[in-house]
Amino acid sequence: MEEINQVSMPRIGDAAPEFKAVTTQGEINFPTDYKGSWVILFSHPADFTPVCTSEFMTFATMEDQFAKANTKLVGLSVDGLYSHIAWLRTIKDKVQYKGMKDVEVKFPLIEDITMTVAKRYGMIQPGESSTKAVRAVFFIDPKGIIRTIIYYPLSLGRNFDELYRVIIALQTADEFGIATPADWRPGDDVIVPPAGSCGSAKDRMEGKEKDVKCYDWFFCTKPISKEKVLDTVLKK
Ligand code: BEZ
Repeated sequence: MEEINQVSMPRIGDAAPEFKAVTTQGEINFPTDYKGSWVILFSHPADFTPVCTSEFMTFATMEDQFAKANTKLVGLSVDGLYSHIAWLRTIKDKVQYKGMKDVEVKFPLIEDITMTVAKRYGMIQPGESSTKAVRAVFFIDPKGIIRTIIYYPLSLGRNFDELYRVIIALQTADEFGIATPADWRPGDDVIVPPAGSCGSAKDRMEGKEKDVKCYDWFFCTKPISKEKVLDTVLKK
């Protein structure tokens, strides 16, 4: 019988596994040091590789944008600290790419030579590579709960507009008690929860609830303006 290779991986809704680590910005105690902020913990396969370099330049350029959404960035690979430092210095001093230059990575990059953290977070996926982390992205809320997980293979650079969209959508869902439909962006209609004690599905279907539009009894939306979303999420 085929042996089942069982690996424990954190899931959406779990508390983010705790660890202490050495980073390019000093030691961190995760997620305790990040309580009160959203945090994106992400892994990359290796320093001094092209896809990872394009990703780090993009993420570093967007760091202020994420900070305005109360979101901190933490990177990880199974390389050592001196490799991380040399790679980030090379990026700053030498690499110009798509209009980005002199890019300083100010967020911490974890050294994880022992793969302790990478294994705990399911970032080592042997079918893809047993010596490098895949491109994992964990979105962790201010209480330390994992709210979204995305994995990409080694060859596929991430879409950072999508990572930002996820952060804004998660916070919008929390703040307004709604859900977000396919391809939602701030300013698009949002999905309202099922009709309950405050109003019946029939009232909704008959257009009696202000601003609510129903496509069927189970699928109703309402507008929230882009300004209201961004004022709430970005100015907390
Ligand atoms: C890269 O970042 O370019 C890369 C890293 C590992 C494998 C393939 C590509």
